[in-house]
Amino acid sequence: MGESPPKLRLLKNGDIWAVYVMERENFIDPWSLENLQDELARPFSVPLGLFRDDKLLAYSFSWLIQGETHLLNLSVGKPFQGMGLGRRLLAAVITISVAKGSERVHLEVSEANARAIALYKSEGFKAVGRRKAYYGDKSDAILMTLTLGPKKSGAPGARGARGPAGRG
Ligand SMILES: CC(C)(COP(=O)(O)OP(=O)(O)OC[C@H]1O[C@@H](n2cnc3c(N)ncnc32)[C@H](O)[C@@H]1OP(=O)(O)O)[C@@H](O)C(=O)NCCC(=O)NCCS
Repeated sequence: MGESPPKLRLLKNGDIWAVYVMERENFIDPWSLENLQDELARPFSVPLGLFRDDKLLAYSFSWLIQGETHLLNLSVGKPFQGMGLGRRLLAAVITISVAKGSERVHLEVSEANARAIALYKSEGFKAVGRRKAYYGDKSDAILMTLTLGPKKSGAPGARGARGPAGRG
């Protein structure tokens, strides 16, 4: 019998430890448990996970604010990378953004992260700027944007919200 297909759902408080472990495996500047708890509590945050039989495979954190999406974090567990899960999660973020009336998706990605940049470009993101020495390893952040469509009225707002440094 084959493996069951990965299932997408919103992250819950009980998933935070698994996300935290994956953060530490994947990033030199991992988000803290407190960062992760804050993200789950924000009303405009969309925390997504891909699971197989309740095991976390990949996750993303996005903010939907004022008709725009900011993709803060996209991360696939090391054993599951290169299997299409990052693309699937990114597609889910884009689909939710369109459904909620977002006009654009923004993200920052390290200039050193060729794999992620290739993924974002292949989904239509364009490089629109750069932040010097943005990350813990002093690499620059490339700012990328995907244009989705016209803005609809009534999107929830949260001007001036702040959180941990984004890295797509
Ligand atoms: C970057 C990341 C999210 C991509 O997710 P993934 O599941 O590994 O990638 P996918 O299998 O969905 O592949 C998507 C695309 O990424 C690129 N890619 C994947 N593996 C690659 C590799 N070894 N080298 C270069 N590009 C690669 C390709 O463009 C690929 O598309 P293709 O298979 O159609 O050619 C994932 O590898 C990851 O979590 N890495 C560590 C954390 C990280 O860097 N997160 C991104 C922060 S911005």
